[in-house]
Amino acid sequence: MLLHHCTWQEVEARLKRSTGIIVPIGSTEQHGPNGLIGTDALCAEVVAHGVGEAADALVAPTISVGMAQHHLGFAGSITLRPSTLIAVVCDTVHSLARHGFDRIYFVNGHGGNIATLSAAFSEIYAERSFNGQGHNTPAVRCRLKNWFDGPAIKSLSEELYGDAEGSHATPSEVSLTQYAFPESVKRAAMSPEIAPKGPIHDAQDYRHRFPDGRIGSDPTLASPEAGKRLFDTAVEEVAGEYQQFLSAG
Ligand code: NI
Repeated sequence: MLLHHCTWQEVEARLKRSTGIIVPIGSTEQHGPNGLIGTDALCAEVVAHGVGEAADALVAPTISVGMAQHHLGFAGSITLRPSTLIAVVCDTVHSLARHGFDRIYFVNGHGGNIATLSAAFSEIYAERSFNGQGHNTPAVRCRLKNWFDGPAIKSLSEELYGDAEGSHATPSEVSLTQYAFPESVKRAAMSPEIAPKGPIHDAQDYRHRFPDGRIGSDPTLASPEAGKRLFDTAVEEVAGEYQQFLSAG
C-alpha cells in the first residue's frame, strides 16, 4: 500500500497493526547513452512497490534526488549536497516517528547515497541520545537496503552479465527500467563495449575519466526479459529482509 494513496485515517488504522514503513530512495543522474536519468530512483521505487505488495508493507513517496555531485558534468543530473540529503532523511524519519512508525526501511538504488544515508542514521540516533529519550519509549530503527547487492540479486547479475555488469549504468539496472517502463527503452551504440573503471572524485574529473557516463559496464546487453527476472529476484530478497527487520528486536 502506498502512503500517498492513503487517507490519514487509513494510516492511523494501519499503525495499529504495523509500525514499519519502506522509503524508496534513489538519484536523478545520467546513466550513460541508453540509461534513463531517473534509473536509480525508478529502480528503487519499482522494487519498493513490489515489496509493498509482496510483504503487505506501507511504502512512502520516493526520495528521488540523492547525492550525485559527480554526475553534474552531464546534462540533466540533479544533486543534493550530502548535508542537504542528511537533513531530508532526518526530517522524513522524524515526521514518520512522530506518528508512531519505528522501523524505517530505506530501499536504496544509488551507491552514492550509502555514506550519506549512514551518516543521517547516526544523526537521528544522536539526536535521540542527546534528548535523553530511550528509557521507556520504543526505539526508532533505520535500515539501509541496496536492492542491487543482496546475495540472490548479485548472483543473478553475475550469471546474466559477468564482467560487463560494471558499477554505473549497469545492464542490470537498465534492464529493470526496460521491464518497468517499456515505452522508454533507448538504443545506442557504445564504444568501448565495456566502459573504463576508476575512482570517483568531482564532476569534471568524472567526465574526463568516463566520457559517456558509464563505469565498467556494457548496458547494451540490457533487456526487458532480464529485467523481469531481476525484478522478481530483488522483490523476493528484499521482502524477506524487510520481514526480518520488522521481527528483529
Ligand atoms: Ni544507477
